[in-house]
Amino acid sequence: MTVDLHRPPQESAHQESAHQESADQVSPFRTSLLEEADGAGSNPTLNPTMGELISVRFSRRGLLKGALAVSAIAATVGPAALMSAEKAHAASDGTAAANGSAFNFIEVEAGVDETHHVAEGYDAEVLLRWGDPLFPDSPTFDPKNQSAEAQRRQFGYNNDYVGFIPLDGSPEHGLLVVNHEYTNEHLMFPGIVSVAEGKLKVAPADKARVDIEMAAHGGTIVEIRKVDGKWQVVRDGKLNRRITSTTPMQITGPAAGSDRLKTAADATGTQVIGTLNNCAGGVTPWGTYVMAEENFHGYFLGKLPEGYREAANYKRYGVPEASYEWGNIYDRFDLAKVPNEPNRFGWIVEVDVNDPTSVPKKRTAMGRFKHEGAESIVAKDGRVVFYLGDDERFDYVYKFVTSGTFNPNDRAANMDLLDSGTLYVAKFDSSGALEWLPLVFGQGQLTAANGFDSQADVLIETRRAADLLGATKMDRPEDIQPNGVNGKVYVMLTNNTRRKDEQVDAANPRAKNAFGHIIEIAEADGDFAATKGTWEVLLKCGDPSVAAVGASFSTDTTRNGWFGMPDNCAVDTAGRLWVSTDGNNPKDTGRTDGLWAVDTEGSARATSKLFFRVPVGAEMCGPLFTQDDRTAFVAVQHPGDGGTDWAPFGRPSYYEDLSTRWPDFKDDMPVRPAVVVITKKDGGVIGS
Ligand code: FEO
Ligand code: CA
Ligand code: CA
Repeated sequence: MTVDLHRPPQESAHQESAHQESADQVSPFRTSLLEEADGAGSNPTLNPTMGELISVRFSRRGLLKGALAVSAIAATVGPAALMSAEKAHAASDGTAAANGSAFNFIEVEAGVDETHHVAEGYDAEVLLRWGDPLFPDSPTFDPKNQSAEAQRRQFGYNNDYVGFIPLDGSPEHGLLVVNHEYTNEHLMFPGIVSVAEGKLKVAPADKARVDIEMAAHGGTIVEIRKVDGKWQVVRDGKLNRRITSTTPMQITGPAAGSDRLKTAADATGTQVIGTLNNCAGGVTPWGTYVMAEENFHGYFLGKLPEGYREAANYKRYGVPEASYEWGNIYDRFDLAKVPNEPNRFGWIVEVDVNDPTSVPKKRTAMGRFKHEGAESIVAKDGRVVFYLGDDERFDYVYKFVTSGTFNPNDRAANMDLLDSGTLYVAKFDSSGALEWLPLVFGQGQLTAANGFDSQADVLIETRRAADLLGATKMDRPEDIQPNGVNGKVYVMLTNNTRRKDEQVDAANPRAKNAFGHIIEIAEADGDFAATKGTWEVLLKCGDPSVAAVGASFSTDTTRNGWFGMPDNCAVDTAGRLWVSTDGNNPKDTGRTDGLWAVDTEGSARATSKLFFRVPVGAEMCGPLFTQDDRTAFVAVQHPGDGGTDWAPFGRPSYYEDLSTRWPDFKDDMPVRPAVVVITKKDGGVIGS
């Protein structure tokens, strides 16, 4: 059996339209086996008319022709020639600070090439790459002889969320916490790929490979510090730790111990092995690390026993999707053998970073869905509010409000705050009103009449509970960030090309929404714990100069400044919004993903500028600013995953034939996802 990386994934039960994958379009930018159905830039369902319009507007065809013309030269003189060629074709705008903008930097030119680019006057250095040692005894990375044992002592694959937890109050010394969302086997392992008719075929996985994949998932906790102006990894840091898909974890909160979470290996329904697909996350006010389990459905295969009670539940979550072959090796990923195992994933995981032997806890009170992230803020009354996105087309925006209050003077008193609270789902009214609907057993329709016998049932089937409450179906909710400076909340909505005209609503205002949008929420009375608020669309993304796209960037936004597919975001200490993207590529937007600075206030509102861009094939994750705003961490995820639609490369990218060998650019080293640290050359505040 071979795994076709480009096969259309199964539709989730909640989605109504057929996947419109066209046979002649390969998706080279495989965001992941699991997100392929979700990724806009990699999604061939992109409205072709729109793509055409953009191409024409920016003379991208001309640019690509130019790039093609110099590709022969590039083969001998290297990527610099290509970069100059692109620059020669690019407009010369992008240097003027927009009127009233909170940002002041000379923006990067949008484009595509093998490496990363940061704004002039800044350094962007690779801090941690896949395979880098994290402990004094870590083996040196040897991609041709990788082992699970080595991988467990090295930085994992596909870095996504990045958090920083100061150790002594200093913004220059702390723990970097990083999620490793998933693995790209075709980029990681030598000798397993063949290419047929332009498509990659990956050889079946054996146990050794599966074990490496499992060890490359999870998270990293590693001490870092700035020494003589340069950030360094402290390899003998006492708190350094790898978390993987085999790390023992505890299930806590209202669903812990439910019969629906019990398995033959765990009769208590409270002990689980590992975490899966940790996308974005958060750092709590009490200094713990939270990891969001996103596309857990892809790790399961097999058939449920006939008539098993979880069939409808699993259908709503798209389980099983069988993107990974782990179930051929380990029974717990096979529904026929361990039918309750999928109920033990899709949670928020909390890790006490102060004790490297602590058992991570899956906090069931925060609901079970394809959790994108979990950014938090302390409300006026001391309760803590977590904003949560469920990243799938037509799924929902949530928030969790703790019952207890944060105690800034007693860390231990906060350690189980996440086990008790209220989970709400958002209803965006066309009037601009926002209502947070509580998911509480016994209230409204969440009763035995609808198959809920406890709060555990409501949480295990969070999506169905939210369906019954009439929540607003959104265009792929990703990262959601509260802003403590202006009191607002920013919701990244990546895209939804399947939204039909008759499904358009005020909060999802575009049919075939290829480029996504950003919603700004104002909670009632500035209280993040409020159950009501108001909302408005901050930004409709895409090329603002093409009327049919309907984008709403300010007129001060340059050809480099617009973007599509907002995914992650950060708010710096000054309260400024930074947005990173997932899905921009040569074909759809003529640019790679990157980090954009987006004004939210005053006359400059909705002005965007490109600050950093990733190498070909990559997605931009992170971003994260230290508390002094003098360091930014960004995560370059799945670099080199693609190349077919990039003229100088133009064919599938895999271990033996990579579209880029970023960041090492050595013939014997594959492309490596990595965290990049950005500082201003003069040591100043970033973006100012
Ligand atoms: Fe893993 Fe929704 O991005
Ligand atoms: Ca994401
Ligand atoms: Ca994403």
